[in-house]
Amino acid sequence: MAISVENGVFYLETAHTLYQMKVDSFGILNHLWYGAKTDCCMDYLLDYPDVGFAGNLYEAGNRRTYSLNTLPLEYAAGGAGDYRVPAVSVTHADGSSALDLRFREYQIRKGKYGIPGLPAVYADEDEAETLEIILQDALSAVEISLLYGVLPRADVITRAVLVRNNGDSGITINRAHSLCMDIPYGEWEWVHFHGRHVMERQMERASLIHGIQESSSTRGTSSHQQNPAVLLCEKDCTETNGFCMGAVFMYSGGFLTQIERDQLDQVRVVMGLNPDTFAWKLDSGECFYAPEVILSCSEHGMGELSRRFHHVIRHHVCRGEYKLSERPVLINNWEATYFAFDEEKIERIAEQAAELGIDMMVLDDGWFGKRDDDISGLGDWFVNETKLPGGLGGLIGRINGMGMKFGLWFEPEMVSEDSELYREHPDWALRIPGRNPVRGRYQLVLDMSRAEVVEYLYQVMSRILRENHIEYVKWDMNRSICDWYTAELPADRQAEVPHRYVLGLYELLERLTEEFPHVLFEGCSGGGGRFDAGMLYYCPQIWCSDNTDAHDRTLIQYGTSFFYPASTMGSHVSAVPNHQTGRVTTLQTRGTVAMAGSFGYELDLNRLSAEEKAEVACQVKAYKAHQELIHNGLYYRLSNPWEDNMSAWAFVSQEQTKVLVQGVVFRAAANVLRLRLRLAGLKADAVYRSSQDGQTYTGRALMSGGILLPKLKGDDAAFEICLEEKSFANAKVNFAI
Ligand code: DGJ
Repeated sequence: MAISVENGVFYLETAHTLYQMKVDSFGILNHLWYGAKTDCCMDYLLDYPDVGFAGNLYEAGNRRTYSLNTLPLEYAAGGAGDYRVPAVSVTHADGSSALDLRFREYQIRKGKYGIPGLPAVYADEDEAETLEIILQDALSAVEISLLYGVLPRADVITRAVLVRNNGDSGITINRAHSLCMDIPYGEWEWVHFHGRHVMERQMERASLIHGIQESSSTRGTSSHQQNPAVLLCEKDCTETNGFCMGAVFMYSGGFLTQIERDQLDQVRVVMGLNPDTFAWKLDSGECFYAPEVILSCSEHGMGELSRRFHHVIRHHVCRGEYKLSERPVLINNWEATYFAFDEEKIERIAEQAAELGIDMMVLDDGWFGKRDDDISGLGDWFVNETKLPGGLGGLIGRINGMGMKFGLWFEPEMVSEDSELYREHPDWALRIPGRNPVRGRYQLVLDMSRAEVVEYLYQVMSRILRENHIEYVKWDMNRSICDWYTAELPADRQAEVPHRYVLGLYELLERLTEEFPHVLFEGCSGGGGRFDAGMLYYCPQIWCSDNTDAHDRTLIQYGTSFFYPASTMGSHVSAVPNHQTGRVTTLQTRGTVAMAGSFGYELDLNRLSAEEKAEVACQVKAYKAHQELIHNGLYYRLSNPWEDNMSAWAFVSQEQTKVLVQGVVFRAAANVLRLRLRLAGLKADAVYRSSQDGQTYTGRALMSGGILLPKLKGDDAAFEICLEEKSFANAKVNFAI
């Protein structure tokens, strides 16, 4: 049993971790522990200090030491004596906003709970258990179900929240976070992933100040600027040592993560829908599900924590035929042609790609409506016959005839003012009556909270997918959202629009992915502006960034790797000088970096020299040979590119018999020793043969002494070393290391 209850204490156990909470004599659910297994009840850590200005529960009588403001709480509500950041807050019909949550009952079930209309971690019935704890407000009939999914083998616990209004009058939910975690002891730092368009998920680690630190998005998407994932680690935690825990919000809209270090140095983390762009009216008898948070922790540093998240995302978040299977190597025409293409240009690129072993031609933006630049055409999902006189069918037929698959770009959620769709349905765009809408990349946003808009998009897209042999869809989304208003809802429900937008998006994705299981859907939002576990439920890969510069990509992919596996990161080789940075890197470097993901090309292959084409053919072959290891292997970060002069990583097979070490050394130096890199994740006693020099080394030597990298020339020079285990019997061990 992963979940058990003894004397009011709940034990949630995974292979290596333990989560504990306890109902106390006042019916308050205390958080006791999330960490390594301890084999005992951790309530001895509860302290009851007498702190001035920390109010006391009325029933505690004169016991000044019992305060909701100092106790570690499992789910903190606002307005009832705890002044730290709340997880939940409501406004009752009488205008008051207190919630005094007391334990009522619990239920343990086999299998993992699901959430209607929202993505959630899934598992077979024998892989997971569910705990539902119901808390009830002492006065109103507001009831809160805390849902816990325990996946023992994955070392993962999920949390979600269900708010029910069993009263006679309506309430408004102002905040309903799925995660609330109080940590009374320790010196903590937090790691978050900030950025901007073309520079997403830049890792930042900082100590906790007293007060609140947060990362968030109010942009209607999870955003380029902050990612809905956070890591909390002890001060001495490294890649390989020390305790850390991580939380990933499985949601693609606005979010808020807050970490408060309070007056007693206790830490509280909350994560959920961003209250700045969310409120929900809950009428009598209605209920509301808050999106899920995925949790994991490790005593052995951030590397192990990342690998746990990689596993759960690959096996219990991503779905569909491509979840674990090989992805096609693709060529996308965006950086090759932008909007300036015609049938012939695309076919020439495809012909060349087919010759070099590439599997799929993806036709990007510009194939539809009046779309010769980004000012017009969005919404008109019918073929642009000036560019493609033979229609989609003609082009696809010829590309299939070359032995290549075909993929197509869409940006379903958007509309250009200069489009037939907008002229017919101007009211379908989000816009506040009487105000001019904000334009982003000249475009407006369709009101995905409206059922008829979702239905229309489903009809249009499903027809194109049904009528054409399309094996891949790139689902783009190129602006942040504001102007939240829908004609469909009354004034007191307008704050629901941002969440209803995401529900509409998920409904459309669900219908299309279910009806077209053979199509590989790749998410995209100006690159990685919606790179989150919610989108990964529908799209097993996401275009990691519009920045294809190999140097910058090492930083972007490094940050992304803390929570998301390599298979989820769309990464392509593009032309030099790079279109975003102007930097020139070698084809080898571009190939090495792009291979650490779901691989492809984004350039006009016809402009390459014969030698370069030969190199591309070798890269494609190499990627196909390594893909299984890259996607299914265990990922190790071997350097910190923010501190070291290199970005290095390794993929180690599950059996630890094969290793692919890759990396880029940033700045070249003259007259220096060869660089040494310590490996990780190997079997200490095994002997590995290196592709670099044919030498053999023990795993222990490679992890302690490291390996010497080849002599490299030039800035941003890439290296790649393959190691394979040899049996002791026929191996010559190199003791010189
Ligand atoms: C943004 C994407 O990230 C690019 O790859 C490309 O598809 C453009 N949009 C097209 O408009």
